[in-house]
Amino acid sequence: MNETNWHRKDLLGIAELSAAEIELILDTAESFREVAERPIKKVPTLRGKTVINLFFEASTRTRSSFEIAEKRLSADGLNFSSSSSALVKGESLVDTARNLQAMSPDLIVIRHGHPGVPHRLARLLEAGVINAGDGAHEHPTQALLDAFTIRQHKGQIGGLRVAIIGDIEHSRVVRSNIHLLQKLGASVVVAGPRTMMPVGIEGLGVDVAYSLDEALDGADVVMMLRIQLERQGRPLIPSIKEYFSLFGLTRDRLGLANEDAIVMHPGPMNRGVEIASDVADGPESVILAQVANGVAVRMAILYLLSGVRGAA
Ligand code: CP
Repeated sequence: MNETNWHRKDLLGIAELSAAEIELILDTAESFREVAERPIKKVPTLRGKTVINLFFEASTRTRSSFEIAEKRLSADGLNFSSSSSALVKGESLVDTARNLQAMSPDLIVIRHGHPGVPHRLARLLEAGVINAGDGAHEHPTQALLDAFTIRQHKGQIGGLRVAIIGDIEHSRVVRSNIHLLQKLGASVVVAGPRTMMPVGIEGLGVDVAYSLDEALDGADVVMMLRIQLERQGRPLIPSIKEYFSLFGLTRDRLGLANEDAIVMHPGPMNRGVEIASDVADGPESVILAQVANGVAVRMAILYLLSGVRGAA
């Protein structure tokens, strides 16, 4: 597949993408990676295009990297602040979106706490919609940058064993990664406390482990997840100390994974809760490479969805 076969207006989730579409995004991101190495980190590719960034939940990495990606592509980016908008005067999200559409943006990037909000806007609006995380449903651009990083460090994704550990129930990152990694031929094992493991997760084709040691056995990639306290209605673990002793990734425990295993984390990271500092900062960690790759991957997505072709 090449970019002339890309016909999507929106990027809403990994579930609906084909393996060929995923590969195209990753290959396009590869072509944008070198822009970060230039003395002047800018290309004219999206000059004259307008992108609105609508973040209804906190973000450091996703928001900053979309903004940087827009600037590097010469797009005009607008950062919409919900707390200083007419939403606080009772305007609905749909009316807000319709009013923003009236100003003719080309793309809207949205993060929202409720699953399905990007999908609703995509049906309603002419602008392309990019899901930057919707509740515990999907975080497609995170899974794409994770895949880009795995490919960069391992050469390929097919045939790898990926262990994803932590709060599986409340994570949108895990859902997008399960879809993506399996589409590209990896096998996935998830592990975490029973109280954070969704019923029926095996139905997505993953193996389930209830101990960290079992999940790490034979892993080529170890992806640690944060406990998503903001999405838990009640305490799901007795204490942080106990959680770390059972599911925290320490240097000793990492020794159970394959010798050349890499360690990933989508961030934000809680040191001493799901990961020890010496592992987070150790030679196996590719956590900051994930962040760096987020810019190139988001440049690729903005480019493909903008309808500009052959200008990369
Ligand atoms: N990984 C991720 O989505 O991080 P932010 O919440 O900082 O955007």
